[in-house]
Amino acid sequence: MKINILAIESSCDETSAAVISDGKILNNIIATQSVHEKYGGVVPELASRAHQLHLIPVIHEAIQSSGIDKSQLSAVAFTKGPGLMGSLLVGVSFAKSFAYALGIPLIEINHMQAHILAHFIDDPKPKFPFICLTVSGGHTQLVLVEDYLTMKVIGETMDDAVGEAFDKSAKLLGLPYPGGPLIDKYAKEGNPKAFAFPVSDMPGLNFSFSGIKTAVLYFLRDRLKEDPEFITKNLNDICASVQYTLIKMLMQKLKRAAKEYQINEIAIAGGVSANFGLRNELQLVADIERWNIYIPKFEYCTDNAAMIAMAAHFKYLNKEFSGLDVVPEARMKL
Ligand code: KG4
Ligand code: ZN
Repeated sequence: MKINILAIESSCDETSAAVISDGKILNNIIATQSVHEKYGGVVPELASRAHQLHLIPVIHEAIQSSGIDKSQLSAVAFTKGPGLMGSLLVGVSFAKSFAYALGIPLIEINHMQAHILAHFIDDPKPKFPFICLTVSGGHTQLVLVEDYLTMKVIGETMDDAVGEAFDKSAKLLGLPYPGGPLIDKYAKEGNPKAFAFPVSDMPGLNFSFSGIKTAVLYFLRDRLKEDPEFITKNLNDICASVQYTLIKMLMQKLKRAAKEYQINEIAIAGGVSANFGLRNELQLVADIERWNIYIPKFEYCTDNAAMIAMAAHFKYLNKEFSGLDVVPEARMKL
C-alpha cells in the first residue's frame, strides 16, 4: 500500500494543506491572509481566526484534488512549531481530531526542519552533509544537515531575523506588510551602492540584524528633514542599498561556515530565499567558491504545506509518530 499523508501548515499567516504519496507531492494548496497588510505585521489574533476560516476549505481542496480518498490516508502531519501559538493551535487541533476519526497516526513537524527538507521535493537534491542558510520572517540560521532528520544549528541571529529586517525597513518606507518582496521588487531598479548602511559582523557564525533597522530609521529621519519627498524620489536606491547590506551580512557568514566545515554543498531556504538579489549573489559566489548550490522553487520558499508533507514522509519511514496529547510549541528548537 502507498504511503499517503495529509500535511497541514498553520504556523504564521498562511493556511496550507498538501497531500504526498510515496514521497511525491500531489498538491500544495495555500490561502494567504491579506488582513495583516494594513497593520504592518501579522496580528496574532486575526491570524488564528483567519486559519479557522480557511483551514477546512483548504484541506478539502487538497484531498479532493489529490484523487486520494480520505480512507486511503496513512497519516496526518502538522506543524508543531515554532510559530504563533494561536495559529499553531488551529492546525494541531484539526490534525488530532482528523487522525483520531480516521484511526491513523499523527506526525508532528518542526517548521524550520521542513523549510530545509523542501529541497527533497524536486531534483536536484543536496547531498549530505550540506549547509543550509534558513532565512525567514522569524529565523535566520545556518544549519549543518547531516541527514534528513539530523540537523544542527551552527549559527543564528542574536536579535531580529533577516526577514524582519526586510519587513521593518519596508515599514519605515511606508510599504505594506510583508515588505520583503516589495523591497526586492524596487531594488531591481536601484543602485545598491547609492547609500551605505553599517554591516554588522558578530563573532563566529552568528548574525545581528537589529542595527540596520535603527540605521534606516535615523537615515530616513535626517534625509526627510532636508527633503520631505526623499523617499518617493529615491525609493529604488534605498531598497537596493538596504537589500545589498542584508545580503552582504548573510553571505559573509555563509562563506565562513562553508570554509570552517569544509563543505561545498550549499542550500538556502525560507521566505527570504525567494529574494532575487540573494539568489543572484549566491549564484555569483558559488561560481567563485565552487559550491554546488540548491535554491528552492518560489512556491516552496515561503510557508507551504508541501514542505511539511515532505518532512512527514521521512518521519513516517522512521515510524516517528505522536500521541493525541501532543501540544504546539511556539518556540520549538530545531
Ligand atoms: O518562511 P516565511 O514565509 O515565514 C516564516 O516562517 O517566517 O518567510 C516570510 C518572510 C517575510 O519576512 C517576507 O518579507 C520574506 O520572508 N520574504 C522576502 C521575499 N519574499 C518573502 N524577503 C525578501 N525578498 C523576497 N522576495
Ligand atoms: Zn516559514
